[in-house]
Amino acid sequence: MNVYAPALAKAHPFEEQTSAFASDVLNGLSKHPKQLAPKYFYDAAGSELFEQITLLPEYYPTRTELGILRDHGADISAIVPKGSALVEFGAGATTKVRLLLETCAFGAYVPVDISGDFLKAQADALRKDFPGLAVYPVNADFTAAFTLPDAVAAMPKVGFFPGSTLGNFEPHEACAFLRSAREILGRNARMIIGVDLEKNERVLYEAYNDKAGVTARFNLNLLHRINRELGGNFDVSAFTHRAIYNRDRHRIEMYLISRKAQTVRVLGRTFSFRAGESIHTENSYKYSPERFAGLARGSGWIPSHCWSDAAGMFSVHALVASD
Ligand code: AVJ
Repeated sequence: MNVYAPALAKAHPFEEQTSAFASDVLNGLSKHPKQLAPKYFYDAAGSELFEQITLLPEYYPTRTELGILRDHGADISAIVPKGSALVEFGAGATTKVRLLLETCAFGAYVPVDISGDFLKAQADALRKDFPGLAVYPVNADFTAAFTLPDAVAAMPKVGFFPGSTLGNFEPHEACAFLRSAREILGRNARMIIGVDLEKNERVLYEAYNDKAGVTARFNLNLLHRINRELGGNFDVSAFTHRAIYNRDRHRIEMYLISRKAQTVRVLGRTFSFRAGESIHTENSYKYSPERFAGLARGSGWIPSHCWSDAAGMFSVHALVASD
């Protein structure tokens, strides 16, 4: 995930990043209902708050996925053809990829990310710790088409998409992403992907409504970010965090709720809020193993393995391209 905002902020000139953020914010706040995209959570402060979320007792995904990768390292290495190139879609903290690099016989590692500087720093650290490993960073938006470096053309490809980042996509976007990954990785490719599971609703609710209030601060930081970067005048204390589980749509939904009727100015535009009016800030889709397998089958892949923890909290799927 985007746990690299300090690097990202340095990587791009102010205007380039700010203009997309600015137009997305103005458009999102003009919608009915109002909405903002979750990718904007991850500025420096938001990335730091997300790191804190991953350590919360209620937030099981990160530690559970790491446990699965650790416990099933041998099974995972068995499906990795020797000398494969590991292609990671979005490159954040290297903890998870290091586990794979330690247990599997990869010939190359290709982290793909929009932040060039962050990629470079991450690549240097990995080269130091894995001296035999060829690292070829690709500076690209992994949700769009990109080409792999020529150096890995002849190698079998294994895609890696951990963290249940797929959960932020609408189901049709998840399908489009999997199809595009299949195209990029080519024939006979494999994919290792972390997917959060449907489970007891209380457990899901608490994971996004932690007692310490870190998730609330993470959500509200989006308004601070608008104030900081777009000269907004949100009174952040006049909004509250809300996260609910939508059973019919199998997803956590996060909102910021206006505590009162108020108006806010952003970049010369005025937005009115009714008391209780919401801004929809995130969806986090949850999949049963069967529903995810169905999604993969409909998106150019054949599910080959599904590993999960004993409590059935999180899943890691292995897919093979249906050539
Ligand atoms: C990084 C998208 C997987 O959906 O659980 C954590 C983000 N939002 N707490 C998730 C998040 C609120 C997280 N993902």
